[in-house]
Amino acid sequence: MQAPDTSQEHASARLHAALGALDSAMIELDEVQKKFDSVSGRIDSLLINTAKSPTANLGANLRSLNARSEVLRKALDRARRNFASARKGYHQASRAYASKHEQHTDALAAARMELADAERCKGALSRSISSWLDPRDLGGGTQSAQTLKGHEGSFGYLPINPARFFDLLIVLERVLALDADFDDPVLRHRPVRFLDVGCGTGRNLALVRSGNVLKTEALAGFDIDAGRIAEGKAAFDLDTELSVADAMTFDYGGHDVIYSFRPFHDPDMMQQYESHLVASMQTSAYLIAVLPEDLVRFPELSCVSGSRGIWKKTG
Ligand SMILES: C[S@@+](CC[C@H](N)C(=O)[O-])C[C@H]1O[C@@H](n2cnc3c(N)ncnc32)[C@H](O)[C@@H]1O
Repeated sequence: MQAPDTSQEHASARLHAALGALDSAMIELDEVQKKFDSVSGRIDSLLINTAKSPTANLGANLRSLNARSEVLRKALDRARRNFASARKGYHQASRAYASKHEQHTDALAAARMELADAERCKGALSRSISSWLDPRDLGGGTQSAQTLKGHEGSFGYLPINPARFFDLLIVLERVLALDADFDDPVLRHRPVRFLDVGCGTGRNLALVRSGNVLKTEALAGFDIDAGRIAEGKAAFDLDTELSVADAMTFDYGGHDVIYSFRPFHDPDMMQQYESHLVASMQTSAYLIAVLPEDLVRFPELSCVSGSRGIWKKTG
């Protein structure tokens, strides 16, 4: 990551100072000019009066005013020079700022383009990885994922986009690294026991293992669809990690991170499932909930990332 560009801030501060100097020089010039004009006016009227009736007093006043006018004329020259120099300084600072601003705008456009490229790259990698992890014969969309055959109200296997999954893990890792409950003397966080609810083939566990974003002590996943579990055991290097179980009755204690991507489309079943999950998960465990039903109703859950759906059981 590039260091923040402070040179534009300096250019802006210099421009600000130059503008202040120009402002002061203008005020000074205006004031001296007014004094000079006033003395000149008084000299003019004295000259008219002296011409009409010359007196010694008028002559003395005239000499004194001429002397004052001479002093003011020099002050006016000085003020004009100051003003010219302040104006020059302002133009220089203004040009320097415009150039820095242009550089900054260019850098911003380049950064935006890099970000857009990185997003496209992420999308392409995600599509490639999905095609390897979820080929058609591994349930990557051959049958309708909307309903799981034989299980009214349940979703079928609808695997999460790998890039999105890693995004969730990256945010969770940052949270764990700051959580005293997950302190480790050496690592950023103590290794966690990770569970995928309704894991399908378990390919997310393979991603957790190979991605190395989270330090894990144990990986586990279960699904009510025994066929998917069998497919996953054969396809990935997973065995005892995978089991067949029902999300409605599973004991969620003993897991530090529970990842759940909506096993049920039926809202009532989702609510029932969430009540059981929150009640049986252990205090201090995290829940990553993709498309939850209503987790706000549980006072024992604290939301640690609203945008990613990450919660911690604190009560
Ligand atoms: C939306 S998919 C999520 C798949 C995977 N967890 C992921 O995020 O990529 C929902 C999964 O929940 C499973 N499922 C549905 N009802 C279930 C239940 N009662 N118990 C366990 N798994 C269930 C489905 O078989 C399906 O694999």
